[in-house]
Amino acid sequence: MKPRWLWLGSLLWLAAWRARRAGAYFPEERWVPESPLRPPRVLLALLARNAAHSLPATLGCIERLRHPKDRIALWVATDHNVDNTTAVLREWLMNVQGMYHSVEWRPMEQPRFYPDEEGPKHWSNARYEHVMKLRQAALQSARDIWADYVLFVDADNLLTNPDTLSLLIAENKTVVAPMLDSRAAYSNFWCGMTSQGYYKRTPAYIPIRKRDRQGCFEVPMVHSTFLIDLRKEASQNLVFYPPHPDYTWAFDDIIVFAFACRQAEVQMYVCNKEVYGFLPVPLRSHSTLRDEVESFMHTQLEVMVKNPPVEPSRYLSVPPKVPDKMGFDEVFMINLKRRADRRERMLQTLYEQEIDCKILEAVDGKAMNSSQVEAMGIKMLPGYKDPYHGRPLTKGELGCFLSHYKVWQEIVERSLEKSVVFEDDLRFEIFFKRRIMNLMYDLEEEGLDWDLIYIGRKRMQVEHPEKAVPHVRNLVEADYSYWTLGYIISLQGAKKLLEAKPLSKMLPVDEFLPVMFDKHPVSEYMEHFDNRNLLAFSVEPLLVYPTHYTGDDGYISDTETSVVWDNENVKTDWDRAKSQKMKEQQELSNEARNTDVLQSPLDSTARDEL
Ligand SMILES: *[C@@H]1O[C@H](CO)[C@@H](O)[C@H](O)[C@H]1NC(C)=O
Ligand SMILES: *[C@@H]1O[C@H](CO)[C@@H](O)[C@H](O)[C@H]1NC(C)=O
Ligand SMILES: *[C@@H]1O[C@H](CO)[C@@H](O)[C@H](O)[C@H]1NC(C)=O
Repeated sequence: MKPRWLWLGSLLWLAAWRARRAGAYFPEERWVPESPLRPPRVLLALLARNAAHSLPATLGCIERLRHPKDRIALWVATDHNVDNTTAVLREWLMNVQGMYHSVEWRPMEQPRFYPDEEGPKHWSNARYEHVMKLRQAALQSARDIWADYVLFVDADNLLTNPDTLSLLIAENKTVVAPMLDSRAAYSNFWCGMTSQGYYKRTPAYIPIRKRDRQGCFEVPMVHSTFLIDLRKEASQNLVFYPPHPDYTWAFDDIIVFAFACRQAEVQMYVCNKEVYGFLPVPLRSHSTLRDEVESFMHTQLEVMVKNPPVEPSRYLSVPPKVPDKMGFDEVFMINLKRRADRRERMLQTLYEQEIDCKILEAVDGKAMNSSQVEAMGIKMLPGYKDPYHGRPLTKGELGCFLSHYKVWQEIVERSLEKSVVFEDDLRFEIFFKRRIMNLMYDLEEEGLDWDLIYIGRKRMQVEHPEKAVPHVRNLVEADYSYWTLGYIISLQGAKKLLEAKPLSKMLPVDEFLPVMFDKHPVSEYMEHFDNRNLLAFSVEPLLVYPTHYTGDDGYISDTETSVVWDNENVKTDWDRAKSQKMKEQQELSNEARNTDVLQSPLDSTARDEL
């Protein structure tokens, strides 16, 4: 077959040649437009250490960059690992090397630690020096192969925007970084620097970080992910190592390089015109690799709040996760069947955290008519009026109540001693699983009698601090609170809630709970319930938050323009009403902290911004 095809091929070629020759007789057809330029040559430098957990996602992002792979050279180094980083990188490089222009691979199996380090997160001088030398070697390789650009990417930086490289190239700057988002104020640039080369807080930082100002800005420092244009003359004077002879500042690779840029009269830029990607907030030097793994996983969860999940590399075999119920008898996730988007996001979010859940199909209040409501014996609490708007219960609130009621029924039917209940529109605090498990451990050690524990809520009573529970870290006795987005409930608690017969005197579920623990400010509501002895607590600080507040981009309420529960004809713009209610609560939020409650050391890390 083969020779025949070849022969046919040359015949076609001959025909084409003839046609072109013939075309030459018509002068207006003789001109062939100039071909476009080939895309620039980029060397992508990746330095990875103890990054087996983050590489599948980071490499997945790199693969998806929209720049021809045959115009990218890979330069990859790894060393001082206690984890599986070398094997992961090797597998990836084996599978992708044919697609890229070239691969330079610098693995080092031994030693596994630096002699002067306290732990895998500690930056010792030996480590700084080694990293500077590696960056210099990558820069030199890029110059040797006459690359146009060198792109440095840290092993836990997620470039979720596949156009990041082209967008940076289009900026035409010698050194430019894409501003990366994190769960806090932290990012990969500084706006100010002290005279010793350390970080300085400036008023310019937050407006850029929050994208209130958008553009590309001159800054004294960029790090982690940045592009150097090697075609620019001044780039010839850039060095990572050795430090400049005049250098007296801290021995830190990013500060050394920022100084080198100054010496070379190269301005660093950071761009925030788009969302380019995400990075974790760095941990303290005494943190463990496990902290690091969980912190990175949390970054992936945060990506999912407003973006599609980060798919892992297609060229790696990622071991499956093993979800469990965190020591609870059941983990419920309440979801409306028609909200598949929320269900998928929550399932993925829980899977990433290795949490197994049971989906409980929510009652769709909108789909119920008055006769059905009547048949269930549902009656509204006499005199109930929304405290902010004086409106009665809506169908959305009715559905919400019935959904939680269904959970409590199942808990009693199955005699589940302790369960967690999640709604489907929440985001998790960092180290969520570890924290909730620690809480349950402390609780059981202390032998505390409890019925319900809020893990997410809106605290409504803010005049007085709540009482901390002795010997149980991060737990307070709950005062008047709203929301039911996440709570822990005991069998005894579920029984108490059902025994109150709330269907015959219904009010919104997040008003019902405070009635049941005797903390509702409206005593007329409480009078309808005899045993208000629910033992209610709240974690402090909270472990879950709503993903969206009403009014935010992307917020679609299930109860939008809902109708009043027992009258199809009376429309309430419940969403707007709720948004007003939220706004009024929002004003409380800054004061709504229990400042007398001790926070765990993890929290100070979690809150660490810069
Ligand atoms: C290490 O990574 C390789 C390549 O991805 C994988 O085949 C292997 O199962 C991993 N080993 C461990 C212990 O995770
Ligand atoms: C990029 O910047 C250089 C100067 O560094 C300038 O000569 C060149 O015209 C610029 N290119 C574009 C496309 O703006
Ligand atoms: C209410 O819904 C039920 C079940 O869908 C239906 O059988 C009934 O006719 C409806 N009643 C009214 C008054 O619309």
